[in-house]
Amino acid sequence: MSNIILLGPPGAGKGTQARLLTEGRGMEQLSTGDMLRAARTSGTEMGKKVAAVMDRGELVTDEIVIGLIAERLRDGSTGGFIFDGFPRTLAQADALGELLKRSGTDLDAVIEIRVDDKALEDRITGRFTCGNCGEVYHDRTKPTDKAGICDACGSTDLRRRPDDTAEALRTRMLAYYRDTSPLIGYYYHAGDLFVVDGLAEIPKVAASIAAILDQAGSS
Ligand code: AP5
Repeated sequence: MSNIILLGPPGAGKGTQARLLTEGRGMEQLSTGDMLRAARTSGTEMGKKVAAVMDRGELVTDEIVIGLIAERLRDGSTGGFIFDGFPRTLAQADALGELLKRSGTDLDAVIEIRVDDKALEDRITGRFTCGNCGEVYHDRTKPTDKAGICDACGSTDLRRRPDDTAEALRTRMLAYYRDTSPLIGYYYHAGDLFVVDGLAEIPKVAASIAAILDQAGSS
């Protein structure tokens, strides 16, 4: 069993790789972005509170996201957790360390998916996802086989995110550099950091991550 963090800027490929790990290794993806979007769709008070913040590309409060993760960690996971989009601040990283310690487990690897900023706008503005199964696509690099139909589940509910605009991306990148990038140093210092080339093709990125997990599992 492994617990890992996928770290990287918006569009680095965290969600894409997390889904592959879920399918291939039976790990459980914990995406705070997906949890927050689900809260918006179901119209909870918290969902209403965070909607405008998310659409602008700003970060939701630490208290809210730590609460979401704490709730999900309570039941544990047999295959291990993939933290996707969490932690995003030093306070969140400290809280995660405490939560894992309390549940008698630890982090096995923090994998930074490193991508040149220039690639991100194209990835973000070309992205669409299946509203039914969550499969991630891209207009140019990963279109559906049949236009308007999800390859994975056949749904026609294909969606674009309101924060996937060039303008919101600038705010998201600012939040990444200001609040999240210090985590690279934090986890480097802890000896948990691995880096993969996120500009490689999706299967190649997956292979690099698999090699890290195999190494972490055997050491
Ligand atoms: P969140 O949903 O976490 O968004 P994000 O971190 O900005 O990351 P993305 O989902 O945009 O990108 P990704 O790295 O998953 O890329 P993907 O695989 O989809 O957060 C959204 C908002 O929620 C935040 O702005 C904030 O408001 C709030 N929030 C969430 N967590 C929070 C927290 N912890 N604290 C505070 N606030 C929080 O890939 C992108 C595209 O590229 C796709 O089209 C894909 O097909 C394509 N692609 C992927 N890999 C490759 C590749 N190797 N080559 C070519 N194309 C590729």
